[in-house]
Amino acid sequence: MTLPAQRSVRLTGWGRYAPAQVLSNADLERMVDTSDEWIVSRTGIRERRVAAAHETTASMGAVAGLRAIYTAGLQPDDIDVIILATLSPDYWMPSTAALVKEALGNTTAFAFDVSAACSGFVYAYATASAYLASGLARHVLVIGSELLTRFLDYSDRSTCILFGDGAGAVVLSATDEPGSAVGMELTTEPQGAYMIWLPAGGSKSPPSAETIARGEHKIRMEGKETYRFATRTLASTALAAVAKAGWSQDDVDLIIPHQANVRIIEAVAKGLDLSMDRIYVNLHRYGNTSAASVPIALAEAVNEGRVEVGDRIVFVAFGAGFTSGAVAMEWTADPARGRTADDAVRPEDVSVRLPVDWDSVDPIPPALAEILARPLPVDLDLSDVVPGEPERVHQPTR
Ligand code: ACO
Repeated sequence: MTLPAQRSVRLTGWGRYAPAQVLSNADLERMVDTSDEWIVSRTGIRERRVAAAHETTASMGAVAGLRAIYTAGLQPDDIDVIILATLSPDYWMPSTAALVKEALGNTTAFAFDVSAACSGFVYAYATASAYLASGLARHVLVIGSELLTRFLDYSDRSTCILFGDGAGAVVLSATDEPGSAVGMELTTEPQGAYMIWLPAGGSKSPPSAETIARGEHKIRMEGKETYRFATRTLASTALAAVAKAGWSQDDVDLIIPHQANVRIIEAVAKGLDLSMDRIYVNLHRYGNTSAASVPIALAEAVNEGRVEVGDRIVFVAFGAGFTSGAVAMEWTADPARGRTADDAVRPEDVSVRLPVDWDSVDPIPPALAEILARPLPVDLDLSDVVPGEPERVHQPTR
């Protein structure tokens, strides 16, 4: 195939979705031997969101994705490629991205998942940029979506307090104008492979009654080693992307880091000699949403007025693998465009089709069932959000 000349890449749309139900530190105090004081002082996390029984990684990713398409001023069929980063897919196969394509009502894109744990969104962003720069696509939807609460061991206090559910997305578009993504760095260090992992269910250890009895389908983590890797790598990966952009760290207006632990972020700020007001933090509200964390934080930072046209932004993430990734980019879109997306695109605007002749077992861990049975903290009618048939898909009104 002959490739056209290199094109520039711009971030044109952004959106996020957070499930309505909140799991607070006080809730966790009733489930495991922990305290709000310990969680806040060691991590900065105060609460996280829990997906409702009818929600999936695909349904959350589709809502965030449709919001990003809306913000970009596009229609679903304008998207040529859908890349979804997740470590909590709906199924082993098909890809969650394929389900999202149908839920969006897109008929034209090819779609696939990217697996790089919490760095997944940045890896997917780099992949999308390569498609656009090479002329193989005009608009790519990049989604990070995670439903981690169904993969947590609610008897392990060192992991279950950290993670939450949600999704974020961006649209990247090819342009002949000067582009926005100017520096990228991706790393993979497999010596950390078993520092954060989910032991069973893969071909090395297929699912069995024994693997389930041993709790091997839940996330395990060596917290201290991961912490050490994170503090070292977040700073070096961000600096490498900044250098590739031809900037110095003083040129950076805002860093949007993976939201794992505020102590990690503060250590990175110290290492880079940056004040915390140049670093965006929202982990107190969501915990660690893995691949969704950077795009959720990005959408919120822009919608809260933290980003202006011309600002130099760095996204940076680390995760299982170990992986890390950073993008240094100049912001070009009108920040006001995203502020109406949550009202314009409602969860009921997407519909993930269920398989025929197959009733899923109850996917909610018993430890969460009581939380989900509570009245929602926000007034949101979920009665018609149950996944249905594809003909229920309709486009949001603009
Ligand atoms: N509540 C109360 N006590 C706890 C809890 C809890 N939730 N969890 C652990 N403890 C206890 C430990 O048992 C230990 O007790 P001991 O001294 O009696 O043995 C004590 O607290 C200290 O434990 P540490 O593990 O040393 O605590 P630390 O300060 O390292 O914090 C933490 C733990 C928060 C997990 C930290 O190591 C961390 O954030 N690591 C990075 C994790 C991370 O970011 N993971 C995401 C990776 S991204 C991805 O790809 C999924």
